[in-house]
Amino acid sequence: MPLIMVTGAAGFIGSVVTQALLKEGNEVLSIDNLSRGHRMAISEDTKFFRVSVGDGPAMGKIFETSKIDAVVHLAGLNQVGESVTDPDLYYANNLRDSLTLLESMHRFGVSKMIFSSSAAVYGVPNEVPIAEEHPIAPVNPYGDTKARVESALHWYGEAYGFQSVSLRYFNAAGASGPVGEDHRPETHLIPNAIKAAQGQIDHLSLFGDDYPTPDGTAVRDYVHVEDIAQAHVQALSALGQLPRRAYNVGTGKGYSVREIIDMTGRVCLADVPVQVEPRRAGDPPELVADASALKTDLGWEPKFPTIEKIIQDAVRWHHDHETGYPGG
Ligand SMILES: NC(=O)c1ccc[n+]([C@@H]2O[C@H](COP(=O)([O-])OP(=O)(O)OC[C@H]3O[C@@H](n4cnc5c(N)ncnc54)[C@H](O)[C@@H]3O)[C@@H](O)[C@H]2O)c1
Repeated sequence: MPLIMVTGAAGFIGSVVTQALLKEGNEVLSIDNLSRGHRMAISEDTKFFRVSVGDGPAMGKIFETSKIDAVVHLAGLNQVGESVTDPDLYYANNLRDSLTLLESMHRFGVSKMIFSSSAAVYGVPNEVPIAEEHPIAPVNPYGDTKARVESALHWYGEAYGFQSVSLRYFNAAGASGPVGEDHRPETHLIPNAIKAAQGQIDHLSLFGDDYPTPDGTAVRDYVHVEDIAQAHVQALSALGQLPRRAYNVGTGKGYSVREIIDMTGRVCLADVPVQVEPRRAGDPPELVADASALKTDLGWEPKFPTIEKIIQDAVRWHHDHETGYPGG
């Protein structure tokens, strides 16, 4: 049975990826320092190590004592705004720690990785939908750290025969069974719209209603977290045979902030109180994936492409977990 190390296993996407890998018959070793994730999100069917991927000696011990076949590296901080105000934190945690992880893998002969990258590597796109050939031009430290890890993976491939794929997620959303989205603080639109509809927060802050889009609000590509997890499963089994080193993970369809708010209100049967605020620096008007490469090369198709289903799943999870995961 293949043994897969999942870093960031206590996080939103990591916990769903873990479920999907277990379902496929893999064994999973969970790594997380719990700086942002939740102990409750870690599957009991995995062996868990509370450690930072940047702790070389501790990670070395784990690689030495467990025969890891591949690493799915999701561990990272993911708030664009925070990365702009505290680049130090992002370069240390997302770049330096990832490079330390690669170093440990190389030292112990583990040479397969699926890396959680982001649409943020494209910066403000020249054209939409965005294909993988679009220039890499991040406009914030978060996107820059992702681009630099992708670059390191490229050179590890050239020099050491590393087999890797970077999956550039667009906006992850939804929930999966007992696992859902609970970032603290929450900066993502759908969970915040649900909280506003449920009266847990006074209002939803809508950043910018004067974009050059049909209703003036920013357009994003929301992809169900289970579909993201499935992309990992498929990428892992095709590693070494894929023509590209990076793939977009999106549905190819964009929804505006207003459309998401309206749909959340309909699903929750409640109003979503909104306060319009100025645009956030570096927020592009429209980010929508050209996801055709993942379809052509991997046969991946989103199973849940409709925004209604994505929001319904998120609402169900938030209904069952009104204050998020217990125990922080
Ligand atoms: N959520 C999205 O829409 C989205 C979009 C694009 C890319 N991504 C990327 O996907 C990955 C997972 O995102 P998420 O939404 O699940 O975030 P999350 O915050 O829920 O999960 C990230 C996990 O990584 C852990 N972590 C952070 N730094 C660590 C370190 N140095 N060592 C060990 N553990 C560490 C945190 O404790 C947390 O549990 C991140 O790398 C993120 O940048 C997310």
